[in-house]
Amino acid sequence: MKLVILLVIFAFTLPASQAAQVDESFWISLDEVALGLLQQKYPKLETLPRHQDRSAAEADVDPKQDRIYLARVTASQRDDLIRMVHDQLHHCAGFFAFDSLSEAMQWLDAPTHLGTQTRPDYGIDYQSVVAPMLATMSAVHIGNTIVSLSSFQNRYYNGSHGAQAADWLADTWLAMAVSRPDVSVEKVNRGSDAMPSVVLTIEGAELADQVVVVGAHLDSVNVVDRGGASHANSIAPGADDDASGVAGLTEIFRQLMASGFRPQRTIQLMAYSGEEFGLYGSRFIAADYAGREVDVVGVLQLDMTNYKGSQSDIYLIDDYTDLLQNQFLVDLLDAYLPTLTVAYSRCGYACSDHASWHLNGYVASFPFEAQFGDDNPYIHSSGDTFANSGEQAAHALKFSRLGLAYVVELGEVSGEQIHRDGFESVVAAGLDKKF
Ligand code: BES
Ligand code: ZN
Repeated sequence: MKLVILLVIFAFTLPASQAAQVDESFWISLDEVALGLLQQKYPKLETLPRHQDRSAAEADVDPKQDRIYLARVTASQRDDLIRMVHDQLHHCAGFFAFDSLSEAMQWLDAPTHLGTQTRPDYGIDYQSVVAPMLATMSAVHIGNTIVSLSSFQNRYYNGSHGAQAADWLADTWLAMAVSRPDVSVEKVNRGSDAMPSVVLTIEGAELADQVVVVGAHLDSVNVVDRGGASHANSIAPGADDDASGVAGLTEIFRQLMASGFRPQRTIQLMAYSGEEFGLYGSRFIAADYAGREVDVVGVLQLDMTNYKGSQSDIYLIDDYTDLLQNQFLVDLLDAYLPTLTVAYSRCGYACSDHASWHLNGYVASFPFEAQFGDDNPYIHSSGDTFANSGEQAAHALKFSRLGLAYVVELGEVSGEQIHRDGFESVVAAGLDKKF
């Protein structure tokens, strides 16, 4: 009791600015490049001695792992970091953000190998199901969803516009799932964040405990031309980053529903909150799944898909991703989208939500719109609009199609639908190989 009173008195005697700073500061994990940038401007930054990244401790980890540090920052220092990365590096230098040092330490120290999840067979078995679905997917649908999402003033993860965007997405997905008791939509809240992550589940008919995840981030940010506005009041349309990814998920889902598709495995489409401020939403979900040993057989991330800045169509990010699953994506492209060209690129530490899964021991991949450095120059500004994407979604359609092939082949076509009324289109498409 005495202690409590003393603490209360102490809190009230702190100068206001100091009290605010104590409140605001939090920890981020970041690589050498990002730390160097931050230390140039803030040489007195509190940092923790070099810390191995959690995956570097594992025996069979590839040698590309970065050296990871912890730094204590305020919100405005974090904003500076996002801006400096954008202005000076012209590539990613991501970070994970934590509410406390113990949460950060726990994250870095946790083992990354679950060793319990199913490694699926990467055979391509459902051509006669997938091919007709790909044919009726449409860039117009994707474009419409990008327009809807980017017309929210912003999708800041901790403001009212962001919360409204999440409501809109959950309502939209639910409305697309008519007469499907096996489909549900859930909002996943992390603490008191205003914007939840939105998670859509198509329950597997035979292997419901095994889960295939396709994700994108729902939130947006403006660190370029926000003026004096707070994040909550900023203009941050995020059409390419990452309405394009969420729109890609939505088109996958529309097509699955239109075809009456039922998977053997459970499929989850995830629109994450808080990616732009340190991968909050995806880390919350991935850590929860790892803690419960949820059997996620594969994760695909779509983040920025609608700007064709390089020669090839699709660039597979080769760090913090899984080699075998990346090869599976190449095989899917060969089988289903043979006119597209594919190449590899590197993204760096914590550059998008795939890293949350990868560092929790799950198999993740991240196909990206361009070669590193040739990506959309408008991101993180008020100029990341559909208009500046040429008012079309031809490039994004390629990624959405790849995502559809991925969920059908990994989700596996259920035997149930071919015996049920209302699934004639699937029967007609033929399931020669499996049944
Ligand atoms: N979509 C970007 C990542 C990106 C940008 C990849 C450009 C490739 C090229 C993502 O939303 C982002 O901005 N990530 C931040 C890290 C995040 C944790 C703040 C980044 O990489 O700087
Ligand atoms: Zn993004």
